[in-house]
Amino acid sequence: MSKKPIIVFEGIEGSGKSHHISIVSKYLDKKKINYIKIREPGGNPNSEKIRKLILNNKSDFNKNTDLLLYLAARSENIKTIKKYYKKKIILIDRFTDSTIAYQHYGMGIDIKIINLIHKFLLDNISVSFTFLNLVNKKNLYLRLKKRKKLNRYDKFNMNFYNKVQNGFLKLANLKKNSYHLVNSNLDIKLNEKLILKKIDKLIF
Ligand code: TMP
Repeated sequence: MSKKPIIVFEGIEGSGKSHHISIVSKYLDKKKINYIKIREPGGNPNSEKIRKLILNNKSDFNKNTDLLLYLAARSENIKTIKKYYKKKIILIDRFTDSTIAYQHYGMGIDIKIINLIHKFLLDNISVSFTFLNLVNKKNLYLRLKKRKKLNRYDKFNMNFYNKVQNGFLKLANLKKNSYHLVNSNLDIKLNEKLILKKIDKLIF
């Protein structure tokens, strides 16, 4: 594996993925290691515009439109990813697995369409390693309740998030060696330590 990997942080709402990616970026900053960080949907001005459109509470798109918008937002990031691929460490808060987990496992869209468009967009780019963050129903409920502002995708029922999380787990099971499961119901400091230990192995 390249020592300038693409490392993705995945998981459902409240699973701690955004916290964990920020721990990793602070760690790399401290070590003065060059990297780029992207979030999806979003990550650059054009994708951020699409993000606002998708997640706005007033939006009422059907699931196919949502899929195409998520992929459109991704398309706007591919140029950046290609530019730095294997040249810099690339950290991504959600990527292709999110589309398969939410739009296929959660919403039932044909996985073949998603895979086909990913192949078209990504070309020869592949994710090196994924931290899959997991949360139980009780903590998911409590963490969503604490959020001051809920977006359009924070308001599904528990059954939906359960299907999505199980979808992520199915993807992780297919490629066990390139996934690290983070149990976000456990002690936060312990998880941070385990993640940084794994990061060391990936980049040094
Ligand atoms: P965020 O809250 O992690 O920024 O993600 C925004 C929402 O978008 C989250 O509910 C997951 C959803 N999403 C999809 O449904 N499909 C995708 O491909 C991506 C990237 C995100």
